Amino acid sequence: MNKIISVLLLAVLAFCLVGCESNQQSKSFDKQIDKLLKQMTIEEKIGQLIQKNGDHSNLDELIREGRIGSVLNQVDPIQVTRIQKIAVEESRLGIPLLIGRDVIHGFRTILPIPLGQAATWNPDLVEQGARVAATEAASQGVRWGFAPMIDVTRDPRWGRIAEGFGEDHLLNGLFGSAVVRGFQGDSLSDPSSIAACVKHFAAYGWAEGGRDYNTANISENDLYDIILPPFKMTIDAGAASIMTAFNEINGVPATGHFPLLNTLLRDQWGFNGVVLSDWESVSQMQVHGYTPNAKESAYKAIQATVDMEMASTTFEENLMALIEEGRVTEKQIDDAVRRILTLKFKLGLFDNPYGHTAEFPQLLNDNHLDVAKRLAQESVVMLKNVNGVLPVSSSVKRIAVIGPLAEAPHDQLGTWIFDGKKEDAITPLQSIREYAKGKGIEIIYHRGLELSRSLEILNKNTLLNDVKRSDLVLLFIGEESILSGESHCLADISLLGGQIEMLKLVATAGKPVVATILAGRPVTFEVVEPSLDAILYAWHPGTMAGPALTDILFGVVSPSGKLPVTFPRHVGQIPIYYNHKMTGKPASDETWERLHDIPAEAPQLSIGNTSHYLDYGFEPMYSFGFGLSYTQFEISSVKIHNTEPKVGDTLMVTAQIKNVGQFEGAEVVQVYTRQLFGSRTRPVKELRDFKKITLKPGQSEELVFLIDTHSLGFHNPDMKYVVESGNYYLWVGNSSRSGEKMEFQIVN
Ligand code: NOJ
Repeated sequence: MNKIISVLLLAVLAFCLVGCESNQQSKSFDKQIDKLLKQMTIEEKIGQLIQKNGDHSNLDELIREGRIGSVLNQVDPIQVTRIQKIAVEESRLGIPLLIGRDVIHGFRTILPIPLGQAATWNPDLVEQGARVAATEAASQGVRWGFAPMIDVTRDPRWGRIAEGFGEDHLLNGLFGSAVVRGFQGDSLSDPSSIAACVKHFAAYGWAEGGRDYNTANISENDLYDIILPPFKMTIDAGAASIMTAFNEINGVPATGHFPLLNTLLRDQWGFNGVVLSDWESVSQMQVHGYTPNAKESAYKAIQATVDMEMASTTFEENLMALIEEGRVTEKQIDDAVRRILTLKFKLGLFDNPYGHTAEFPQLLNDNHLDVAKRLAQESVVMLKNVNGVLPVSSSVKRIAVIGPLAEAPHDQLGTWIFDGKKEDAITPLQSIREYAKGKGIEIIYHRGLELSRSLEILNKNTLLNDVKRSDLVLLFIGEESILSGESHCLADISLLGGQIEMLKLVATAGKPVVATILAGRPVTFEVVEPSLDAILYAWHPGTMAGPALTDILFGVVSPSGKLPVTFPRHVGQIPIYYNHKMTGKPASDETWERLHDIPAEAPQLSIGNTSHYLDYGFEPMYSFGFGLSYTQFEISSVKIHNTEPKVGDTLMVTAQIKNVGQFEGAEVVQVYTRQLFGSRTRPVKELRDFKKITLKPGQSEELVFLIDTHSLGFHNPDMKYVVESGNYYLWVGNSSRSGEKMEFQIVN
């Protein structure tokens, strides 16, 4: 119990220190900002609220006139310094610019896509990765990164699933906070820190049918219990800014959403950082059919407390008139300017607008590459491994490396790599060849298909003959990077092009086949799964894909990733996610009426039916939290120490974990709970905590989970957050589908 108290005290202390420091800091800037505000004309104030793209035609002139507060997409350090000089030395008040960029998963050193980073279940490592990205971006003059994206989604058709941390809100909150800490470091004033911009507020991942930018129709309780908590967590972690979303939420565009932005974010959560619109999302309110013209769009956005408009021109063209008409007050503009100037002061831009470029570590230095490699390694999820085909045995002397993604340096980097270069990428083929050289293994390579989408199998006969004379096939298949990401959504998420056919062809040779799948989303491949002996799901692993995957394939490290998202068997099962509701007629194996078992002219009955598909049942292909290792772990002695906690108490759960296999490896031990009944129905399981631990063969350790009972609540039908007394189940396991059911009770 003492341990619990000290942990809680430390957490409170840390929270106070972070909060107090930033409050004091903001106060100390207030005087300087007051002084500036007194000197600024209204035009200059409005200017601070404008963000323009780096290639804007009369950029220099606008900066000189104090009519721009921020520039995005200018990352050439010479150009950045040049425009910053204009702002500081040639504009009337010398206010520096905020230079922003989409630093999504690395800058020049490309880390795995965020969905892959989530598969590490290792927030500390993700924080290190974000630090690498921040340092590299800052070295080029970028001090504002438009990440993390923490849009919870349940739709792998949505292209931007690649850019977030999957289907669970706790994971999104924890990984988002890790990125915030990594970007912002101990202090924003550190020249290697960049301000985080948490996005997209809100419900962007809820797009209808997984079509990007589409309508989010969401129940109020899902909005409050699933979508918003990660935003609150990242704001509590100190996120300096937040970006609005393109979509509408139940009929109101997010960028003009007064209740969400003004009432919730500002008033209830007390967020005093910068709110940035998304690209033209202010002017798009008219396209949505929410405003009649640009002026009303500007009005809605400013009323909702959007501080800065990205790319579109409604603020610069209309705010002055709105002030003159008395519909927008100068105080409202001053408040927005204050928030923007506060960020500029916090970043130290007034004292050091150009950064210390000479003092930065080199881009792509060994430490950065090492972090990228470790992240790539830990992101790999092993989905299957029969007959110990992996790691590759030392008796294997000839390997056929096949597939369009074995040597695809651009595609392994993934989506959103504005500053990454394929020339820096080490491919799986390169690394495997390197490894094989030292071991006397012969490597035969066939691309098989030009692209993942190509239909024609290249050199079919030679390919098959080469497979026949090999001991093992290593397939590298999946999706090119351009098939996920913004507006790159798919209606069919099965392995594309001729990949299935190629796989079937390879399987005819009867050799062991290992598939490594590189993709920006879960893809479906049930039809060929039986032909595969092992499956590694590698997402888009980034610059260090080759070395990371080679280490895993040849057993230098054991895979330890776990799925941050449920994999459907078929696209038609979407949405399929682990924390679903029970329904009144839950599906089961016994009640699943299988398509082909239904007799001809069977009578329609309404008794004994359950919620499933005739053709695809109700189970996913792979469950959330699932992932195999080369070793085996045993979880035992699970104990709930206080089975009758009061609301506000900490629930203490301990478990013993032992590596009972032959390899060193890491396991992610996960804790789930379920409230049996409530004033609103509750999900069948919810992730509450997890720990990743590395153990040598035979080694064991006791894990302690401390779960704040406050976090077990939800919004009741009156939309009040409540933690209800009553019975709960709890599981400790290594996926969302494992662990023995235990019980506890929350008492009044
Ligand atoms: C639009 C995207 O939705 C957003 O995430 C990104 O930061 C901006 N474009 C700027 O590139």
